[in-house]
Amino acid sequence: MTDPEAALGLLVQRALAEQLGSEFATADPLIRPSGFADYQSNVAMSLAKRLGRPPRQVAELIANGLDGASAVETAEVSGPGFINITLRDRWLAEQADDQLADPGLGVPIVGPAQCVVVDYSAPNVAKEMHVGHLRTTVVGDAVVRVLEFLGHRVIRANHIGDWGTQFGMLLEHLLDVGEQVAYDQLAAGEINDFYQAAKQKFDADPVFAERARLRVVALQSGDPETVRLWQTLVRDTEHYYNAIYRRLDVKLTDADLVPESFYNSMLADVCDELESLGVAVISEGALCAFPPGFTARDGSPLPIILRKSDGGYGYDATDMAAIRYRVRELGADRLIYVVGSEQALHFSMVFAVARQAGWLTDKVRAEHATIGMVAGADRKRFRTRSGGSVKLSTLIDEAVERAEEVIRDRYEDPVQRRQIAEAVGIGALKYGDLSVARDSSYVLDFDRLLALTGNTGPYLQYATARIRSIFQRAGLDPAQVTGPIQLGTSAERVLALQLLGLGRAISDTAAAAEPHKLAGFLFELASAFTTFYEQCPVLTAEGETRVSRLALCALTLRVLATGLGLLGIPVPERM
Ligand code: ARG
Repeated sequence: MTDPEAALGLLVQRALAEQLGSEFATADPLIRPSGFADYQSNVAMSLAKRLGRPPRQVAELIANGLDGASAVETAEVSGPGFINITLRDRWLAEQADDQLADPGLGVPIVGPAQCVVVDYSAPNVAKEMHVGHLRTTVVGDAVVRVLEFLGHRVIRANHIGDWGTQFGMLLEHLLDVGEQVAYDQLAAGEINDFYQAAKQKFDADPVFAERARLRVVALQSGDPETVRLWQTLVRDTEHYYNAIYRRLDVKLTDADLVPESFYNSMLADVCDELESLGVAVISEGALCAFPPGFTARDGSPLPIILRKSDGGYGYDATDMAAIRYRVRELGADRLIYVVGSEQALHFSMVFAVARQAGWLTDKVRAEHATIGMVAGADRKRFRTRSGGSVKLSTLIDEAVERAEEVIRDRYEDPVQRRQIAEAVGIGALKYGDLSVARDSSYVLDFDRLLALTGNTGPYLQYATARIRSIFQRAGLDPAQVTGPIQLGTSAERVLALQLLGLGRAISDTAAAAEPHKLAGFLFELASAFTTFYEQCPVLTAEGETRVSRLALCALTLRVLATGLGLLGIPVPERM
């Protein structure tokens, strides 16, 4: 184990058992970072009452118990009973050596592997994927990568919206313009124009509206020609999404498409099961479930609607079917929904009903990984000047063009410049989504996202490129560097301690599906490296010091590149 915090926790528990009795061996050691030492343990204060002794006295006992541990340099009692603990340089250096030697960088694979379904991206057919979808796509993809790295079996589920009454008007419009024209328009990403044109006709032309209604009926009853047209429309849109996924280097492929319509054949049975369990009841002709604790403003119970009074099914029913399918057929242990915060009520109600039905239990959890809003400079939802939602491909183009401006002076060769601009622009855009707590909203400001300093994608990409150039100048392959590492200065020590936090950053990220934790860790690591590099000469150092510092550089490079890879941020070799 290379994680200092976990190692120290075990040492404190051992000291507790030795000094106070074995029944204390499992007490939470309450290790926290400290301003006065590497860590502090607050355990004495929490146990004092139970022991009937003053906390400082308890702290003294534990501190004595820690003395002599090979990992501990000093353990000192302070204040009301804090134990300030400083780790031994030798021990830290050994842990860093172990991390360098381990292909898995010392990240522990904890607990049994789970089957996790991650529901993310999920744009809608014939509707533009907007910045909000970009954020769920990017965050979901990072969550998937982190869970897979930890050895879990991950099922990516792209729950795209391919069903509903709006398909009547969309298909009639498709017929009006012709399949080829529609294809060209959709493939070019003019998706909103297509949708708007259909909607305008639907609102203004009663004859068209009637055709649309008949078309919905034909689609629902499986009329072959209508189904074929619908599939064309779905495929054309998927084609466009796929191009964006490839450009963003997101892991989603056609194999991960599990659209809303996939669940159609299960809906009647899902309703029957919920009804026979007594979870769903008929209310005003519709089949509804009233999960306990959800009420409208006037205090009346709030329903989810499983089957409308006209017999139709909607978004709620589909999500109920998806939960049952994922738990029963896929054998999921954990369901993560990376979806906008505006759907919080929907998911908490749907989850509550699934718990009532016994589909979700203490062992099979579902969580809504809420995604906050991406705002424009005016702090309102990000939009184009004309007020429409932004075409995602345009947004990506803009990021890349601006990135090219930022790096213009560094490259003569236009092809190479373009390649790096693509990595920097897309990296900046993705990192912007990942570095902020996913449930908070943030302002999309290209100047900030593309800055070469601060918690940005380009700063981290630049940090890795800079370390690579150290090895280039030395004529060394960073993969061949072995150490041993020695910690002479405080900058080296801070860097090593930070490097050893990788496993914790990754497991914290997996625990609550929060990539900003890993992003924050990488930013602190790059900052610690910058200080180290300013204060500790590497190539001009001699002997063991040079060997050690090169090893710290190599380890930093690997941890940064691995971490950025887990976030899905491209790492250009040069910058
Ligand atoms: N298509 C939906 C939207 O654009 C998101 C679907 C999220 N996933 C789900 N299982 N409901 O808002």
